[in-house]
Amino acid sequence: MRIGTDYYPEHWERTRWETDITLMKQAHIKVVRVGEFSWSLYEPAEGEYHFEWMDEILDFFNKNEIKVVLCTPSATPPKWMTDKYPDIYQKDIFGNEKVFGTRRHYCYNSKTYRDKLRSLTEQLVKRYGSHPAVEAWQVDNELGWSDTTRCYCEKCEHEFKSWMKEKYETIERLNEQLGTIFWSQIYRNFDELILPKAGACYNTCHETQGQNPGLLLDYYRFASDSVIGFMNETVITLKKHTDRPVTTNLLDASVNSGTGIDYFKLSEDLDFVTWDNYIEFQWGMAKQEAVSKDQALLRSYKKQSFWVMEQQSGACGWSKMGPAPTPGKLRLWTYQAVANGADTVVYFRWRTCPFGTEEYWHGILGHDGKVNRRYEEIARVGQEMEDLSLKLGTIMPKTQVAIIKSFDSEWSHSIHSHVEGFDYDEMLLNFYQAFRRAGAGVDFVHGGEDLSGYQLVIAPAYIIVNEQAKKNLEQYAMTGGNCVITYRSGIKDDCNNFLMESVPGTFAGMTGVTVEDYDPQYKKTTTGAGVFGENRANLWCDIVMPDTAKTLGIYTQDYYANQACLTENLFGEGHVYYLGCDLEEAAAEKLARYLCEKAGIITNAYYIKGVEVVAATDGDKDLRILLNHNDYSIIVPVEGVRTELISNMEVDGFVKLAPYDVAIVC
Ligand code: GAL
Repeated sequence: MRIGTDYYPEHWERTRWETDITLMKQAHIKVVRVGEFSWSLYEPAEGEYHFEWMDEILDFFNKNEIKVVLCTPSATPPKWMTDKYPDIYQKDIFGNEKVFGTRRHYCYNSKTYRDKLRSLTEQLVKRYGSHPAVEAWQVDNELGWSDTTRCYCEKCEHEFKSWMKEKYETIERLNEQLGTIFWSQIYRNFDELILPKAGACYNTCHETQGQNPGLLLDYYRFASDSVIGFMNETVITLKKHTDRPVTTNLLDASVNSGTGIDYFKLSEDLDFVTWDNYIEFQWGMAKQEAVSKDQALLRSYKKQSFWVMEQQSGACGWSKMGPAPTPGKLRLWTYQAVANGADTVVYFRWRTCPFGTEEYWHGILGHDGKVNRRYEEIARVGQEMEDLSLKLGTIMPKTQVAIIKSFDSEWSHSIHSHVEGFDYDEMLLNFYQAFRRAGAGVDFVHGGEDLSGYQLVIAPAYIIVNEQAKKNLEQYAMTGGNCVITYRSGIKDDCNNFLMESVPGTFAGMTGVTVEDYDPQYKKTTTGAGVFGENRANLWCDIVMPDTAKTLGIYTQDYYANQACLTENLFGEGHVYYLGCDLEEAAAEKLARYLCEKAGIITNAYYIKGVEVVAATDGDKDLRILLNHNDYSIIVPVEGVRTELISNMEVDGFVKLAPYDVAIVC
């Protein structure tokens, strides 16, 4: 458990480095990340390489015993390169070429770019692969950031055709499976295939509305694969010459709106994953549950601890700023990450930059480079982490519940979202929040992985389910697992076509129900009642006919009053619940408690508003981490006499938390 900072030594006079390092050491900063946007320093003209500046930086950190994460700088190709090889540029959804002057304007399928990158990476890793300061490597920076996963250039079109040929083998098969008979889209050969660009027709939800939904989904998968392929080429090059672990920094869904990359797949080739965590800034104010959920996703991709590679450290924004973090929040956010499985938290950035797009994006130090209250707060955290790591190993939450996150389903829902207001990620968050408030620990899984460690598995709007995942879930339930399947699950095939079966299609056997009709809640709502108390569905109502299942909840309104909205089916030794409608916050929480009880998961007596309680372990000790997200003090009960590990004080029966305060109770 430790802290670090993202540092740009090349932005400052060499004479300033000594002051910076002294301050870093006083703040107990153990690691810096450097070099992710520095291609034009490494290679100012084609084939003319300069490494002496990075030699100096790395030797400097080595001398000062601070570890370094060294990046490959592919997020920003230099000007000479895009001038000379314009095919490096990405094209946007309208077919317009990206422009120089910002970042991520390159195409993942540009052979020229890949060649250039490989030769720079080879030189970097041969030179620094065994450097004593280099602890790890970061590939690129935020792959896919700002809608850059999906490129619409001719190179991608070409590659997409091959990708499709490999998948479908014959054009007849493609036509049949993508239903191209609809609207006269039949292709005579793979060469005729298009990239589904903007401007198709009738744009009411996204620019490509009107395009074939199967083609869109395949294109999204292809784009995700292209990014992963691009990244892996660098990972492979690095691994040839270094034994240091390789990572990249991810974005996650709630505030940063995801990237369209299948992170389960991407994570397979990395040694560990990291992410960038901005909470209150120009582009949004995240609720604490959303941040917690995103941290849970991060620890779930590889089922191991992760880093925060960029943690907010001041007021942030490009053209306008979000609020300055209230005193206490930087510390709280750091502990929130640690409680949810982060073992290193790196603050973005060391010092606020006086120039460039991010002149407002505040670092730990302001423009003036002087010690300030944010620095003092982070230095306190640094000290605490140093002390805590003498007592504790890496903390991981204890989890009993798994929520299925399916990238195929997410993309399918984003293509056609079923009803106004439906949002897949929001749905995952609602379940996460309900179970966390009930006191359960929650991970995310993909449908194909080993579920045997979980007492309850939730499949929200799991619309595309492959054969392996289906069997996996059936096996899990058969052998005593508890599953919740919701509306809009199991009803489409791999090509994003509807199954010609009654809803819930794939899950009919497990759930023991038939959905005889459904009522999208457009400009209407429908009430219901059951083990979840009272509810008002705002999005969706499946009218559920129990076949072998029993009813746990009914609608109390509309032409389907008294018909089921929630059922339970015995399947092998397990219990499979089918939830046909969306639940309001209180009903979701009540249902979570009901399900936990049934699955033998111990819940808390009550939820204290704004207090995140994480039951965790460091592999040895049982811990309860208490995070007060409120701007007021709160008293949290604890069982008997315990030790609060940050203060090393005994607590008896309760802990008093100041606003934004934290406690680790053992
Ligand atoms: C992140 C990015 C950083 C920096 C920061 C502030 O998305 O990785 O390089 O740009 O945001 O905008």
